[in-house]
Amino acid sequence: MSETVLRQHAEHAFAGELEALRKADADSGRPKPPRWKLSPWAVATYLLGGTLPDGTAITAKYIGPRRIVEIAIATLATDRALLLVGVPGTAKTWVSEHLAAAVSGDSTLLVQGTAGTPEEAMRYGWNYAQLLAHGPSREALVPSPMMRAMATGAIARVEELTRIPADVQDTLITILSEKTLPIPELGEETQAEKGFSVIATANDRDKGVNDLSSALRRRFNTVVLPLPATAEEEIEIVSQRVKSLGRALELPEVPAAHEEIRRVVTVFRELRGGLTEDGKTKLKTPSGTLSPAEAISVVAGGIALAAHFGDGTLRPADVAAGILGAVVKDTSTDKLVWQEYLETVARGRDGWTDFYRSCREVSA
Ligand SMILES: Nc1ncnc2c1ncn2[C@@H]1O[C@H](COP(=O)(O)OP(=O)(O)OP(=O)(O)O)[C@@H](O)[C@H]1O
Ligand SMILES: [Mg+2]
Repeated sequence: MSETVLRQHAEHAFAGELEALRKADADSGRPKPPRWKLSPWAVATYLLGGTLPDGTAITAKYIGPRRIVEIAIATLATDRALLLVGVPGTAKTWVSEHLAAAVSGDSTLLVQGTAGTPEEAMRYGWNYAQLLAHGPSREALVPSPMMRAMATGAIARVEELTRIPADVQDTLITILSEKTLPIPELGEETQAEKGFSVIATANDRDKGVNDLSSALRRRFNTVVLPLPATAEEEIEIVSQRVKSLGRALELPEVPAAHEEIRRVVTVFRELRGGLTEDGKTKLKTPSGTLSPAEAISVVAGGIALAAHFGDGTLRPADVAAGILGAVVKDTSTDKLVWQEYLETVARGRDGWTDFYRSCREVSA
């Protein structure tokens, strides 16, 4: 796999770790569900991080409650599919990709859900030149990622399930309950091989999860991915992701950005929760979600500024514009929320003078 692609699939980016986990499984003789590349234990270690008996360090991909990851993995070992829900930016897509990479060694069997997702994306389409020349045949059939996952006993991913039109969602009910995909044109069917399952994601904020038909919802075990419980956890998520993003984008190293990361996370958490850290001042909350994902972008953007236009150290001025952009979405009310935060919270805070000033400059 080329080193120059902007974003490698998880199974390539972490091929070394996956191989080490495979070896650890083989050495210890842990049982694997049919067609799984790794044991459930190894999949959990891949996601949560750890050190293998041979000393290989496995990085944490997901930072959060261990039990959530265990429940997600156990679900995939049963005949129910997995539905990851949560507010935007809580790593639903990220966890889905890494689970598929660890369990099946392939995270690319993906159906992107939109209001326009056609049935072919869930079933199959036709190569029309072939179809017209020779009539319906297996050669003329273009399988969907779902169909390929069924045929190979792999995990298929469905992103943004709740955005998909109801009739297309219904196709998924047959697939998940009967584990088969009929091909009436050929009088055939594709039966799912052992190992096949589906990981779907859905976003709380979109109208949605409740609109899933109860028939479809019953086929899924729903796991909610929470926002980070503590500031420390959130700081760790942001630091870790920013570091690996920086490496992937080949940004010059920017030393100890810890203080700025802490500040961004503090601002986000206080505004999200409508309360200052010390619990003393109530705040208005802005319209956006201010998720960990957005904190990651703000810091990564700041690092690019610091590296290319600054003195190579992440400064308050490098994150100020990014924070403003993340907080002020619906300009009229968000702007007031932000101004109030600046004046009542940031202004008087110890060590926040530069930050306050930089924010005032970009807000003006
Ligand atoms: N708990 C966490 N542990 C590790 N990384 C996290 C965590 N929460 C968020 N992230 C990071 O946030 C980024 C965005 O996550 P992702 O795109 O998966 O969010 P999402 O829940 O799918 O959002 P959306 O609903 O907008 O699709 C990823 O880079 C991911 O690494
Ligand atoms: Mg997503």
